[in-house]
Amino acid sequence: MRKKIVAGNWKMNNNLSETINLINDLKIQIYKNNVKVMIAPAFTFLHDAVKQIDGFDIEVISQNINNNSSGAYTGEVSAEMLKSIGVNTTLIGHSERRAYYNEDDELLLNKLKYSIECGMNVIFCFGEELSDRKSQNHFTVVKNQLDNTVMKVDKSSWKKIILAYEPVWAIGTGETASAEQAQEMHEFVRKCISESFGEEISNNVSILYGGSVKPNNASEIFSKKDVDGGLIGGAALNASDFSKIVESNR
Ligand code: PGA
Repeated sequence: MRKKIVAGNWKMNNNLSETINLINDLKIQIYKNNVKVMIAPAFTFLHDAVKQIDGFDIEVISQNINNNSSGAYTGEVSAEMLKSIGVNTTLIGHSERRAYYNEDDELLLNKLKYSIECGMNVIFCFGEELSDRKSQNHFTVVKNQLDNTVMKVDKSSWKKIILAYEPVWAIGTGETASAEQAQEMHEFVRKCISESFGEEISNNVSILYGGSVKPNNASEIFSKKDVDGGLIGGAALNASDFSKIVESNR
């Protein structure tokens, strides 16, 4: 059985008191039945967030990670540091990291392999740009992104991997892929995984959809058979919206 997951990517939002307040609101409002809930506050407040969660069943995760264990990497954060404060899952390959910080497939593969070696779980993000979709190249682009990264890990790594399909044109734009477009891509990705790693792995990997998921469209998107949940940006900053999205993933 695949895990249903809703993860909130807070990006570079919320100072310390806003972080604590949002967590307190989530603790009151989240009714999650069988859904795994994750939140990714900024690095600065991860330790405070872990403490504030205080046993409540929401996992605090990081938005990024470095691919080295320690050393002269100014401004970076390692898996060991994250694990030492109780953060055991990280996003890798978000389109904003790819676009603004030049993170290419080679670096992302290093991050992925190193994180898994360190025992971290990974939400690995991928997705095409608007021009790729307009030129009908979205399947090829996605397949390339996957072939260069997650398809290069060994079979045993897959129990640590969650995938997030995030069409770049739908992130933060209010534009959403239709539920059918999401399903079509998720099904395609599952087929690619099955071809390389077999059906058991492809049936067990959770594939999240990300890109302007809101309370009013979440149920329809999550109802599709290969969509196991969502990676939520803007709507994760509001406790009531985020809780409604979590509830939509029954
Ligand atoms: P959005 O962001 O929900 O604001 O579109 C999604 C994401 O970047 O993960």
